[in-house]
Amino acid sequence: MRAIQVSEYVKGPLDLKTTEVPTPTPSPDKYLIEIHSAGTNFFDILQIQGKYQHQPPLPWIGGAEFAGTIAALPTSSASSSLKYKVGDRVFGATQGAYATHVLAPEHTLLPVPSGWSFEDAAGLFVTAPTSYGGLVHRAGVKEGDWVLVHAAAGGVGLSAVQIAKAKGATVIATAGTARKREIAKEFGADYVVDYTDKAWPEIVKKLCKENRSGNGAAGVDIVYDPVGMIEPSLKCVAWNARLLVIGFAAGSIEKVALNRVLLKNVSIVGLHWGQYAKFETGTVGDVWKGIFDLVAQGKFRGTAFKDESFFGLESVPKALQALGGRETWGKVVVNVTDEKAKSKL
Ligand SMILES: NC(=O)c1ccc[n+]([C@@H]2O[C@H](COP(=O)([O-])OP(=O)(O)OC[C@H]3O[C@@H](n4cnc5c(N)ncnc54)[C@H](OP(=O)(O)O)[C@@H]3O)[C@@H](O)[C@H]2O)c1
Repeated sequence: MRAIQVSEYVKGPLDLKTTEVPTPTPSPDKYLIEIHSAGTNFFDILQIQGKYQHQPPLPWIGGAEFAGTIAALPTSSASSSLKYKVGDRVFGATQGAYATHVLAPEHTLLPVPSGWSFEDAAGLFVTAPTSYGGLVHRAGVKEGDWVLVHAAAGGVGLSAVQIAKAKGATVIATAGTARKREIAKEFGADYVVDYTDKAWPEIVKKLCKENRSGNGAAGVDIVYDPVGMIEPSLKCVAWNARLLVIGFAAGSIEKVALNRVLLKNVSIVGLHWGQYAKFETGTVGDVWKGIFDLVAQGKFRGTAFKDESFFGLESVPKALQALGGRETWGKVVVNVTDEKAKSKL
Protein backbone atom coordinates (compact mmCIF):
# COMPACT_ATOMS: atom_id res chain seq x y z
CA MET A 1 0.00 0.00 0.00
CA ARG A 2 1.00 3.64 -0.18
CA ALA A 3 1.47 5.63 3.02
CA ILE A 4 3.13 8.65 4.57
CA GLN A 5 5.63 6.82 6.73
CA VAL A 6 7.72 8.81 9.20
CA SER A 7 11.14 7.15 9.61
CA GLU A 8 12.76 10.24 11.12
CA TYR A 9 11.25 13.45 12.45
CA VAL A 10 10.87 16.23 9.90
CA LYS A 11 11.04 20.03 10.13
CA GLY A 12 7.55 20.46 8.72
CA PRO A 13 4.80 18.97 6.54
CA LEU A 14 6.52 19.77 3.23
CA ASP A 15 9.31 17.28 4.11
CA LEU A 16 6.84 14.36 4.19
CA LYS A 17 7.02 11.75 1.39
CA THR A 18 4.60 9.07 0.20
CA THR A 19 6.20 5.60 0.11
CA GLU A 20 5.27 2.00 -0.68
CA VAL A 21 4.95 -0.16 2.48
CA PRO A 22 3.43 -3.63 3.06
CA THR A 23 -0.38 -3.64 3.28
CA PRO A 24 -1.40 -4.82 6.77
CA THR A 25 -2.61 -8.42 6.81
CA PRO A 26 -6.03 -9.13 8.40
CA SER A 27 -5.67 -9.13 12.16
CA PRO A 28 -7.27 -11.29 14.91
CA ASP A 29 -8.96 -8.32 16.62
CA LYS A 30 -8.97 -5.45 14.13
CA TYR A 31 -10.77 -4.60 10.91
CA LEU A 32 -8.74 -3.87 7.79
CA ILE A 33 -10.08 -0.68 6.24
CA GLU A 34 -9.52 0.75 2.79
CA ILE A 35 -9.21 4.49 3.40
CA HIS A 36 -11.04 6.85 1.05
CA SER A 37 -10.55 10.14 2.92
CA ALA A 38 -8.27 11.24 5.78
CA GLY A 39 -8.97 14.14 8.14
CA THR A 40 -6.08 16.37 9.20
CA ASN A 41 -5.43 17.66 12.71
CA PHE A 42 -3.01 20.21 14.13
CA PHE A 43 -1.54 17.48 16.33
CA ASP A 44 -0.45 15.60 13.15
CA ILE A 45 1.90 18.53 12.48
CA LEU A 46 3.33 18.32 16.00
CA GLN A 47 3.66 14.52 15.77
CA ILE A 48 5.73 14.50 12.54
CA GLN A 49 8.15 16.90 14.27
CA GLY A 50 8.36 14.74 17.42
CA LYS A 51 6.58 17.39 19.50
CA TYR A 52 3.30 15.63 20.38
CA GLN A 53 2.39 13.88 23.65
CA HIS A 54 1.90 10.58 21.76
CA GLN A 55 4.98 9.55 19.70
CA PRO A 56 4.99 5.90 18.54
CA PRO A 57 8.40 4.23 18.10
CA LEU A 58 9.83 5.03 14.62
CA PRO A 59 8.91 4.24 11.90
CA TRP A 60 5.17 4.97 12.00
CA ILE A 61 2.48 6.15 9.61
CA GLY A 62 1.08 9.65 10.14
CA GLY A 63 -2.53 10.77 10.40
CA ALA A 64 -5.34 9.81 12.77
CA GLU A 65 -8.81 10.37 11.29
CA PHE A 66 -10.25 8.51 8.32
CA ALA A 67 -13.33 7.30 6.47
CA GLY A 68 -13.41 4.26 4.21
CA THR A 69 -14.79 0.78 3.62
CA ILE A 70 -14.25 -2.44 5.55
CA ALA A 71 -11.86 -4.62 3.49
CA ALA A 72 -11.45 -7.55 5.95
CA LEU A 73 -12.97 -8.61 9.28
CA PRO A 74 -11.10 -9.47 12.50
CA THR A 75 -10.07 -13.10 11.98
CA SER A 76 -10.63 -14.35 15.56
CA SER A 77 -14.34 -13.43 15.83
CA ALA A 78 -17.38 -15.06 14.26
CA SER A 79 -18.75 -12.62 11.69
CA SER A 80 -22.19 -12.85 13.39
CA SER A 81 -20.73 -11.25 16.54
CA LEU A 82 -19.26 -8.30 14.64
CA LYS A 83 -20.90 -4.92 14.10
CA TYR A 84 -19.58 -4.43 10.51
CA LYS A 85 -19.29 -6.56 7.39
CA VAL A 86 -16.99 -6.31 4.38
CA GLY A 87 -17.92 -3.29 2.24
CA ASP A 88 -19.55 -1.28 5.07
CA ARG A 89 -18.77 2.46 5.07
CA VAL A 90 -17.15 3.53 8.35
CA PHE A 91 -15.28 6.46 9.84
CA GLY A 92 -13.01 6.55 12.85
CA ALA A 93 -9.65 7.40 14.33
CA THR A 94 -6.46 5.45 14.89
CA GLN A 95 -2.76 6.03 14.20
CA GLY A 96 -1.91 5.64 10.50
CA ALA A 97 -4.68 7.38 8.54
CA TYR A 98 -2.33 8.81 5.89
CA ALA A 99 -2.35 5.53 3.99
CA THR A 100 -4.52 3.58 1.62
CA HIS A 101 -5.22 0.95 4.34
CA VAL A 102 -5.29 0.82 8.13
CA LEU A 103 -6.14 -1.67 10.89
CA ALA A 104 -8.64 -0.46 13.52
CA PRO A 105 -10.51 -2.07 16.44
CA GLU A 106 -14.32 -1.96 16.46
CA HIS A 107 -14.64 0.63 19.24
CA THR A 108 -12.78 3.20 17.13
CA LEU A 109 -15.27 2.93 14.23
CA LEU A 110 -18.75 4.31 13.49
CA PRO A 111 -21.02 3.94 10.47
CA VAL A 112 -20.87 6.75 7.88
CA PRO A 113 -24.24 8.53 8.13
CA SER A 114 -26.54 7.76 5.23
CA GLY A 115 -26.05 10.21 2.35
CA TRP A 116 -22.70 11.48 3.69
CA SER A 117 -19.54 11.53 1.60
CA PHE A 118 -16.32 9.94 2.87
CA GLU A 119 -14.86 13.46 2.75
CA ASP A 120 -17.35 14.83 5.27
CA ALA A 121 -17.32 11.69 7.44
CA ALA A 122 -13.50 11.75 7.75
CA GLY A 123 -13.70 14.94 9.83
CA LEU A 124 -16.50 13.89 12.17
CA PHE A 125 -14.91 11.61 14.76
CA VAL A 126 -13.23 14.24 16.96
CA THR A 127 -14.97 17.55 16.35
CA ALA A 128 -18.67 16.64 16.60
CA PRO A 129 -18.53 14.74 19.93
CA THR A 130 -16.23 17.35 21.48
CA SER A 131 -18.78 20.05 20.75
CA TYR A 132 -21.84 17.94 21.58
CA GLY A 133 -20.28 16.61 24.80
CA GLY A 134 -19.26 20.12 25.81
CA LEU A 135 -22.42 22.01 24.98
CA VAL A 136 -25.04 19.39 25.83
CA HIS A 137 -23.51 17.23 28.57
CA ARG A 138 -21.21 19.73 30.30
CA ALA A 139 -22.90 23.09 29.77
CA GLY A 140 -26.53 21.89 29.50
CA VAL A 141 -27.38 24.11 26.53
CA LYS A 142 -31.12 24.70 26.20
CA GLU A 143 -33.60 26.59 24.07
CA GLY A 144 -33.29 30.35 24.52
CA ASP A 145 -29.64 30.30 25.70
CA TRP A 146 -27.13 32.64 24.09
CA VAL A 147 -23.89 30.87 23.20
CA LEU A 148 -20.60 32.57 22.33
CA VAL A 149 -18.49 30.26 20.12
CA HIS A 150 -14.85 31.30 19.73
CA ALA A 151 -12.89 30.36 16.56
CA ALA A 152 -16.29 29.44 15.21
CA ALA A 153 -15.03 28.57 11.72
CA GLY A 154 -12.47 26.05 13.05
CA GLY A 155 -13.11 22.30 13.19
CA VAL A 156 -14.70 22.12 16.64
CA GLY A 157 -16.12 25.65 16.26
CA LEU A 158 -18.30 24.87 13.23
CA SER A 159 -19.65 21.79 14.99
CA ALA A 160 -20.43 23.88 18.08
CA VAL A 161 -22.30 26.49 16.04
CA GLN A 162 -24.53 23.82 14.49
CA ILE A 163 -25.20 21.97 17.77
CA ALA A 164 -26.02 25.15 19.70
CA LYS A 165 -28.42 26.24 16.93
CA ALA A 166 -30.01 22.77 16.79
CA LYS A 167 -30.71 23.00 20.54
CA GLY A 168 -32.53 26.31 20.09
CA ALA A 169 -29.79 28.71 21.19
CA THR A 170 -28.80 32.05 19.68
CA VAL A 171 -25.16 31.95 18.56
CA ILE A 172 -22.59 34.73 18.55
CA ALA A 173 -19.58 33.47 16.58
CA THR A 174 -16.08 34.95 16.69
CA ALA A 175 -13.47 34.46 13.96
CA GLY A 176 -10.35 36.20 12.74
CA THR A 177 -11.12 36.80 9.04
CA ALA A 178 -14.09 37.98 6.99
CA ARG A 179 -14.17 34.64 5.09
CA LYS A 180 -14.29 32.68 8.35
CA ARG A 181 -17.08 34.90 9.71
CA GLU A 182 -19.01 34.35 6.47
CA ILE A 183 -18.61 30.56 6.92
CA ALA A 184 -19.79 30.75 10.55
CA LYS A 185 -22.93 32.53 9.30
CA GLU A 186 -23.45 29.91 6.58
CA PHE A 187 -23.43 27.22 9.28
CA GLY A 188 -26.08 29.05 11.30
CA ALA A 189 -24.47 31.72 13.52
CA ASP A 190 -26.88 34.58 14.28
CA TYR A 191 -24.18 37.21 14.87
CA VAL A 192 -20.50 37.30 13.97
CA VAL A 193 -17.78 39.27 15.71
CA ASP A 194 -14.18 39.96 14.66
CA TYR A 195 -12.19 38.97 17.75
CA THR A 196 -9.00 40.50 16.40
CA ASP A 197 -10.68 43.77 17.47
CA LYS A 198 -9.68 44.17 21.14
CA ALA A 199 -13.11 45.64 21.88
CA TRP A 200 -14.88 42.36 21.03
CA PRO A 201 -16.17 41.71 24.60
CA GLU A 202 -17.85 45.14 24.47
CA ILE A 203 -19.41 44.24 21.09
CA VAL A 204 -20.77 40.97 22.53
CA LYS A 205 -22.12 42.84 25.57
CA LYS A 206 -23.82 45.40 23.32
CA LEU A 207 -25.47 42.63 21.26
CA CYS A 208 -26.85 41.09 24.46
CA LYS A 209 -27.95 44.43 25.91
CA GLU A 210 -29.84 45.34 22.72
CA ASN A 211 -31.43 41.94 22.13
CA ARG A 212 -31.96 40.31 25.54
CA SER A 213 -33.85 41.20 28.69
CA GLY A 214 -33.47 40.42 32.41
CA ASN A 215 -30.20 38.81 33.49
CA GLY A 216 -29.41 37.96 29.85
CA ALA A 217 -28.92 41.64 29.03
CA ALA A 218 -25.52 41.39 30.77
CA GLY A 219 -24.08 38.79 28.39
CA VAL A 220 -24.11 35.22 27.08
CA ASP A 221 -25.09 32.05 28.98
CA ILE A 222 -22.42 29.76 27.53
CA VAL A 223 -18.91 30.37 26.19
CA TYR A 224 -17.38 27.64 23.97
CA ASP A 225 -13.64 28.27 24.00
CA PRO A 226 -11.15 26.23 21.92
CA VAL A 227 -8.66 29.14 21.81
CA GLY A 228 -7.74 30.16 25.38
CA MET A 229 -10.00 33.19 25.86
CA ILE A 230 -11.79 32.47 29.14
CA GLU A 231 -10.39 35.54 30.90
CA PRO A 232 -11.65 38.16 28.38
CA SER A 233 -14.88 36.19 27.90
CA LEU A 234 -15.71 36.71 31.61
CA LYS A 235 -16.38 40.35 30.68
CA CYS A 236 -19.45 39.46 28.61
CA VAL A 237 -21.24 36.66 30.45
CA ALA A 238 -24.61 36.57 32.20
CA TRP A 239 -25.39 35.43 35.75
CA ASN A 240 -24.95 31.62 36.04
CA ALA A 241 -22.98 31.38 32.78
CA ARG A 242 -20.99 28.25 31.92
CA LEU A 243 -17.60 28.67 30.24
CA LEU A 244 -16.29 25.60 28.43
CA VAL A 245 -12.52 25.05 28.32
CA ILE A 246 -12.04 23.12 25.06
CA GLY A 247 -8.52 23.98 23.92
CA PHE A 248 -5.66 26.43 23.63
CA ALA A 249 -5.31 27.02 19.88
CA ALA A 250 -3.66 30.40 20.58
CA GLY A 251 -0.74 28.48 22.10
CA SER A 252 -0.71 29.49 25.77
CA ILE A 253 -2.56 28.19 28.80
CA GLU A 254 -4.54 30.90 30.52
CA LYS A 255 -4.56 31.83 34.17
CA VAL A 256 -7.88 33.20 35.38
CA ALA A 257 -8.57 35.50 38.34
CA LEU A 258 -11.09 33.46 40.31
CA ASN A 259 -12.75 36.46 41.99
CA ARG A 260 -14.57 37.06 38.68
CA VAL A 261 -15.91 33.51 38.76
CA LEU A 262 -17.37 34.18 42.22
CA LEU A 263 -18.68 37.68 41.48
CA LYS A 264 -20.53 36.63 38.33
CA ASN A 265 -21.72 33.31 39.81
CA VAL A 266 -20.36 31.38 36.83
CA SER A 267 -18.88 27.90 36.22
CA ILE A 268 -15.72 27.15 34.29
CA VAL A 269 -16.02 23.61 32.94
CA GLY A 270 -13.40 21.49 31.19
CA LEU A 271 -13.97 18.79 28.60
CA HIS A 272 -11.48 16.11 27.52
CA TRP A 273 -13.42 14.12 24.95
CA GLY A 274 -10.74 11.48 24.31
CA GLN A 275 -10.89 10.37 27.97
CA TYR A 276 -14.63 9.63 27.88
CA ALA A 277 -13.80 6.29 26.22
CA LYS A 278 -11.86 5.43 29.41
CA PHE A 279 -13.91 7.02 32.20
CA GLU A 280 -17.47 7.42 30.93
CA THR A 281 -18.20 4.98 28.12
CA GLY A 282 -21.98 5.30 28.53
CA THR A 283 -21.78 9.00 27.70
CA VAL A 284 -19.85 8.19 24.49
CA GLY A 285 -22.89 6.26 23.21
CA ASP A 286 -25.31 8.99 24.34
CA VAL A 287 -23.26 11.68 22.60
CA TRP A 288 -23.09 9.79 19.30
CA LYS A 289 -26.82 9.02 19.46
CA GLY A 290 -27.45 12.74 19.91
CA ILE A 291 -25.22 13.59 16.93
CA PHE A 292 -26.75 10.95 14.64
CA ASP A 293 -30.24 12.21 15.61
CA LEU A 294 -29.26 15.75 14.60
CA VAL A 295 -27.82 14.42 11.33
CA ALA A 296 -31.06 12.52 10.61
CA GLN A 297 -33.08 15.69 11.31
CA GLY A 298 -30.91 17.64 8.84
CA LYS A 299 -29.58 19.84 11.66
CA PHE A 300 -25.93 18.81 11.43
CA ARG A 301 -23.86 18.62 8.24
CA GLY A 302 -20.25 17.90 7.37
CA THR A 303 -17.73 20.70 7.72
CA ALA A 304 -15.05 19.68 5.16
CA PHE A 305 -13.08 22.69 3.89
CA LYS A 306 -14.18 23.32 0.30
CA ASP A 307 -12.19 26.40 -0.83
CA GLU A 308 -9.38 24.09 -2.00
CA SER A 309 -9.32 20.33 -2.67
CA PHE A 310 -6.62 17.87 -1.68
CA PHE A 311 -6.44 14.72 -3.83
CA GLY A 312 -4.16 11.75 -3.21
CA LEU A 313 -1.71 11.09 -0.36
CA GLU A 314 0.81 13.30 -2.17
CA SER A 315 -1.35 16.28 -1.16
CA VAL A 316 -1.06 15.58 2.62
CA PRO A 317 1.97 17.94 2.97
CA LYS A 318 0.07 20.77 1.25
CA ALA A 319 -3.07 20.10 3.31
CA LEU A 320 -1.12 20.13 6.60
CA GLN A 321 0.75 23.26 5.53
CA ALA A 322 -2.57 25.01 4.82
CA LEU A 323 -4.03 23.87 8.16
CA GLY A 324 -0.95 25.08 10.06
CA GLY A 325 -1.08 28.41 8.24
CA ARG A 326 -4.52 29.15 9.74
CA GLU A 327 -5.85 29.78 6.20
CA THR A 328 -8.53 27.09 6.25
CA TRP A 329 -11.93 26.61 7.86
CA GLY A 330 -13.81 23.52 9.09
CA LYS A 331 -11.99 20.22 8.63
CA VAL A 332 -9.20 19.95 6.07
CA VAL A 333 -9.67 16.54 4.46
CA VAL A 334 -7.45 14.67 1.98
CA ASN A 335 -9.33 12.51 -0.54
CA VAL A 336 -7.03 9.50 -0.56
CA THR A 337 -8.64 7.06 -2.96
CA ASP A 338 -12.15 8.21 -3.75
CA GLU A 339 -13.46 8.34 -7.30
CA LYS A 340 -12.66 12.01 -7.82
CA ALA A 341 -9.12 11.41 -6.58
CA LYS A 342 -8.66 8.44 -8.92
CA SER A 343 -9.74 10.48 -11.92
CA LYS A 344 -7.16 13.15 -11.09
CA LEU A 345 -4.19 10.79 -10.51
N1 LIG B 1 -11.03 19.23 24.67
C1 LIG B 1 -11.06 18.30 23.73
O1 LIG B 1 -11.43 17.16 23.97
C2 LIG B 1 -10.66 18.70 22.34
C3 LIG B 1 -11.05 17.94 21.24
C4 LIG B 1 -10.70 18.40 19.96
C5 LIG B 1 -9.93 19.56 19.82
N2 LIG B 1 -9.54 20.24 20.94
C6 LIG B 1 -8.72 21.45 20.84
O2 LIG B 1 -9.50 22.50 20.32
C7 LIG B 1 -8.67 23.42 19.63
C8 LIG B 1 -9.25 23.69 18.25
O3 LIG B 1 -9.28 22.49 17.50
P1 LIG B 1 -9.79 22.51 16.00
O4 LIG B 1 -9.76 21.10 15.53
O5 LIG B 1 -11.05 23.27 15.91
O6 LIG B 1 -8.61 23.33 15.31
P2 LIG B 1 -8.64 24.19 13.98
O7 LIG B 1 -9.63 23.65 13.03
O8 LIG B 1 -7.22 24.30 13.56
O9 LIG B 1 -9.19 25.60 14.46
C9 LIG B 1 -8.51 26.36 15.40
C10 LIG B 1 -8.97 27.81 15.28
O10 LIG B 1 -8.35 28.53 16.32
C11 LIG B 1 -8.19 29.86 15.93
N3 LIG B 1 -6.89 30.34 16.42
C12 LIG B 1 -6.72 31.31 17.33
N4 LIG B 1 -5.44 31.53 17.56
C13 LIG B 1 -4.74 30.67 16.79
C14 LIG B 1 -3.36 30.44 16.57
N5 LIG B 1 -2.42 31.12 17.24
N6 LIG B 1 -3.01 29.46 15.68
C15 LIG B 1 -3.94 28.76 15.02
N7 LIG B 1 -5.28 28.94 15.19
C16 LIG B 1 -5.67 29.90 16.05
C17 LIG B 1 -8.27 29.89 14.39
O11 LIG B 1 -9.41 30.68 14.04
P3 LIG B 1 -9.26 32.22 13.66
O12 LIG B 1 -8.29 32.29 12.51
O13 LIG B 1 -10.63 32.61 13.34
O14 LIG B 1 -8.71 32.89 14.90
C18 LIG B 1 -8.53 28.46 13.98
O15 LIG B 1 -9.56 28.36 13.02
C19 LIG B 1 -7.28 22.79 19.59
O16 LIG B 1 -6.49 23.39 20.59
C20 LIG B 1 -7.53 21.33 19.91
O17 LIG B 1 -6.43 20.72 20.54
C21 LIG B 1 -9.89 19.82 22.18
